[in-house]
Amino acid sequence: MKAVILVGGEGTRLRPLTYDIPKPMVPILNKPFMEHMLDLLKKHGIKEVVFSSGYKVEAFMEHFFNGEKLGLKLDYVVEEFPLGTAGAVKNVEKFIDGTFLVFNGDILTDADLTSLIKYHREKKGIATLTLTPVDNPTIYGVIETDQNNRIQKFIEKPSWDRVTSNYINAGIYVLEPVIFKEMKPDKNYSFERQIYPDLLERGDLLFAYKTGAYWLDIGSPEKYMKANQDALLGNIKLETHLKREGSGILLGDSSSIGSKASLEPPIAIGKNCVISKGAQIGKLSVIGNSCKIESGAVVKSSIVWDNTIVEKSARLENCIIGRNCLIGEEAVIESGAIIASSTKIEPGKVIESGVKVG
Ligand code: GDD
Ligand code: MG
Repeated sequence: MKAVILVGGEGTRLRPLTYDIPKPMVPILNKPFMEHMLDLLKKHGIKEVVFSSGYKVEAFMEHFFNGEKLGLKLDYVVEEFPLGTAGAVKNVEKFIDGTFLVFNGDILTDADLTSLIKYHREKKGIATLTLTPVDNPTIYGVIETDQNNRIQKFIEKPSWDRVTSNYINAGIYVLEPVIFKEMKPDKNYSFERQIYPDLLERGDLLFAYKTGAYWLDIGSPEKYMKANQDALLGNIKLETHLKREGSGILLGDSSSIGSKASLEPPIAIGKNCVISKGAQIGKLSVIGNSCKIESGAVVKSSIVWDNTIVEKSARLENCIIGRNCLIGEEAVIESGAIIASSTKIEPGKVIESGVKVG
């Protein structure tokens, strides 16, 4: 079975991190989020994947090329203008040759795709949508079903008074090619607001597959941090090249940890890093590859991307730092701040809580 992954969005809520890298390529445990997603597809026997892209497709191509290294066949289709979630799938129709999977490109999950596909075949609908329970359905698409899991209604991004269920569209579908029939090429269509409701109206059978698997939309800074922290805590098991050093410490090859450096698990430190003597890496931190954390620097619950230097006695707390940054001596990056890639923070400077730089 083939899969289409929707990666056309600009990742606006993750700016400034997504100015130079598309949202699906942000690292989780030092590996692009999309690579974790491809690991899941592979685990369930999916070997051919089509990326439906529009924003910074080069980032995917440069990293994954044709997929050979991962044992996959990857194709890329680039839209000239955004076609919407369903228009984007129609746009890759030529690659589809039977029942297929569609994934939103920002969902971290360990959902059992084998069981989802089996359920779809048993129910014999034209679409099976994965549903997951959430605390706040207003930022997602609520889906109502009957006792047989037949979908009755779609309510996209409802206000609280319209919320009738805490089960929402998880952005993982199994579809039959017949859904393309009424759609015109090169036209903007939304699955959630138009195509699925239209199919219901026509009396077509759409089913819900409810999952209790791990599920997180990584689209906001808080959720992006949570994804990394959940991976460190083992709430979702992700494949990594980092090696376990004692309990709760993941460490890449050729990294050196200075004397009296303090490492508080769970943490991950990439390859070729230098953690100098007396530096502190607090729990729930992820340090990218080729980073340098100098003596006396303190990193607490923060995500630091590749190739960044944190100079002596600088302090980072609950923040995200992009690639190739230089955080000057004694600078302070407060909780919730985001520093874009290739930014230099002057020594002693304080970046206040929640501020985005770059
Ligand atoms: N190729 C392409 N073209 N991809 C697109 C386009 C487009 O025009 N528009 C959006 N996408 C991709 C995004 O990159 C993302 O991976 C996916 O489609 C969903 O878009 P989002 O912008 O992230 O939508 P959302 O999170 O607000 O809502 C969607 O996901 C929720 C689950 O996270 C909806 O499907 C909701 O119903 C659902 O609950
Ligand atoms: Mg989303």
